[in-house]
Amino acid sequence: METNLTRRHFISTAGTAALAASAVPGRGAENSEGNLTKIIGVSCSPRKGMTTARSVQAALDAAKAVDARIAVELIDLGGLNIAPWSPNPPADDMAALLPKFRDPAVAGLIIGSPCYFRSLSGLAKCFLERLAPLREPTMALAGKPFGVVTVGAYRNGGQELTIEQIQAILLCFGMIPVGGHAPAFQGATLLSASDSVDGDELGLRTAARLGTKLAETALRMAAG
Ligand SMILES: Cc1cc2nc3c(=O)[nH]c(=O)nc-3n(C[C@H](O)[C@H](O)[C@H](O)COP(=O)(O)O)c2cc1C
Repeated sequence: METNLTRRHFISTAGTAALAASAVPGRGAENSEGNLTKIIGVSCSPRKGMTTARSVQAALDAAKAVDARIAVELIDLGGLNIAPWSPNPPADDMAALLPKFRDPAVAGLIIGSPCYFRSLSGLAKCFLERLAPLREPTMALAGKPFGVVTVGAYRNGGQELTIEQIQAILLCFGMIPVGGHAPAFQGATLLSASDSVDGDELGLRTAARLGTKLAETALRMAAG
């Protein structure tokens, strides 16, 4: 069992390296079970439907455009009740969300957070902590790619720092960070003004680039 897990991780990592060399959109859009390649985007702002949700949706739209067989879903945590991890977590909205992330069809995640004091939102931290049951023993998310979208009201407001913090957390799940391509080197970094990102053309481009890259990576890895 341990050997299989280790070997799977190695193969996944090798797959990422191969992808960096050449990405072929449209190839292998179904996983080995013939299911759709699903990408879930999560908006971790307490404000439903605001700039973080809009930015994650921009990344998902680009991901979907890569291949018709890619399915995307936006989960907006705004207004939901999600407590931090505890030994006996309360019966809150996380109970309904967890099965979505256990679904083997999920081939990649896009996590979006507003920058709060140059860090991730409390809601993002609670949500990520409560994904803990997906770690051992199943490691349900291991070997799957993820990208991070951040929005701040200030230029240099901590967007890249926030991305790094979320990457650090998801590495604990064995997930594989996607980035490294201009203009989304670290991930998607957006600047809001008057509660909108529509005027941030460069930021929206980082979201689209990240979504495209994530979809290409997910397709290739889902195809094994
Ligand atoms: C408590 C709090 C802290 C914030 N800290 C920062 C910050 O450090 N840097 C920044 O650029 N913007 C900061 N902002 C602004 C938000 O990141 C920004 O308005 C963002 O677009 C909000 O996302 P939303 O529209 O999805 O809620 C902060 C906002 C709040 C409420």
